[in-house]
Amino acid sequence: MSIYAAMSRDELLQEYQSVKARFDAGKAKNLKLNMARGKPAKAQLDLATELLTTVSTKEDCIVDGVDARNYGELCGLKCAREYWAEILDCKSENIFIGGTASLNIMFDVISRAYTHGLLHSERPWCKEEKVKFLCPSPGYDRHFRITEFFGAELITVPMNDEGPDMDVVESLVKDPQVKGIWCVPKYSNPSGIIYSDATVRRFANLKPAAPDFVIMWDNAYCIHEFEGEYIPFPDIISLCEEAGKPDMVIEFASTSKVTFAGGGFSAMASSAANIAYFVKLFGVQTISHDKINQLRHVRYLKDKAHTIEHMKKHAAIMAPKFRAVSEALECQIRPCGFAQWNNPKGGYFVSLNTMPGTAKRALALCKEAGVEMTPAGATYPYGLDPQDSNIRIAPSLPPVEELQEAMDIFCTCLKLAALEKLLEV
Ligand SMILES: Cc1ncc(COP(=O)(O)O)c(C=O)c1O
Repeated sequence: MSIYAAMSRDELLQEYQSVKARFDAGKAKNLKLNMARGKPAKAQLDLATELLTTVSTKEDCIVDGVDARNYGELCGLKCAREYWAEILDCKSENIFIGGTASLNIMFDVISRAYTHGLLHSERPWCKEEKVKFLCPSPGYDRHFRITEFFGAELITVPMNDEGPDMDVVESLVKDPQVKGIWCVPKYSNPSGIIYSDATVRRFANLKPAAPDFVIMWDNAYCIHEFEGEYIPFPDIISLCEEAGKPDMVIEFASTSKVTFAGGGFSAMASSAANIAYFVKLFGVQTISHDKINQLRHVRYLKDKAHTIEHMKKHAAIMAPKFRAVSEALECQIRPCGFAQWNNPKGGYFVSLNTMPGTAKRALALCKEAGVEMTPAGATYPYGLDPQDSNIRIAPSLPPVEELQEAMDIFCTCLKLAALEKLLEV
């Protein structure tokens, strides 16, 4: 095999015939493999089984003089707030504990911004002539969909190795219609990069024209190393405070990829003033969240050190899967020279850029051969990748052997789509 760009038409045709034969053989296996979403594998969910019995008697339900079975403590149990404060390296008064998933609080924040405004809004966003929201891309489709759902205009911001391109961000926030930005600062979904310290500082020192500009800092993968030791990360809350913009950032996290996906417990971290503001708004929709679940989690996960130990068990399951992805790409795609990808040390995804104009076709071929992937384009606002190049690989769910089969087909489809384009067949 050699670099496609350097091959003659005859060589490309020969390669096409051999790749097509491999595709047909893969298709004949009638596989049904799924790499579409970043779901933890069953073995990972099994790791936290003991959590289910950490609160099993009526005595277990009492903590710090509070009965976790009753209404109250809208911000969350004291021990739950302390738990997240330690993980996110901020103060417990900066923490609001949500329900079983963080996306829900993110949706609620944007929803309240539209109906009531944020702390420094001059009017609810629904009364603004136009709201624009910055979407570093490739990024997380569900983030983009929340702001699209409420009618914001989504603006793509390119990502580089240090995070979103801050020159672009600093320039765009001069527009008062730009009201916020989505960020996944550690092991970004899907690029896997960790924002550099310089990027984090530039975020804290942003000078947006909109008084209610909000940084939606989704730290979903804050403790999710699968290779190497835990990497500490700067606390954006205190950095924004130091920069004189304490209310500009809202951070989110959950235990969806620590205990049970969608059945963990979530947290929002922000300035005390923002927390007080949201308590007023959220207090209309609920009296309190599930504190028994909070207690189960804190009893099981204990503290940051213990949680990081627990994450090593996840790492032992995840690392071989990411290795399988990397090995397949290195062996089958690297020599062809038409794609680039990352090799992250944490998070849930590998982001791959294939030959422009071929991502959709490659994934359609995958589907035909029984391999389901995140749709091409999903990592860009409105599901439209202008280059038709980016593909998010989510290796967590299938067992390693299935993943190897799926990667074999995926690589074949990448090549077939690239060859079709080069040969215009
Ligand atoms: C960046 C990011 N944020 C949030 C979520 C969902 O988190 P939760 O289950 O807490 O809503 C995911 C899930 O894949 C994610 O990748």
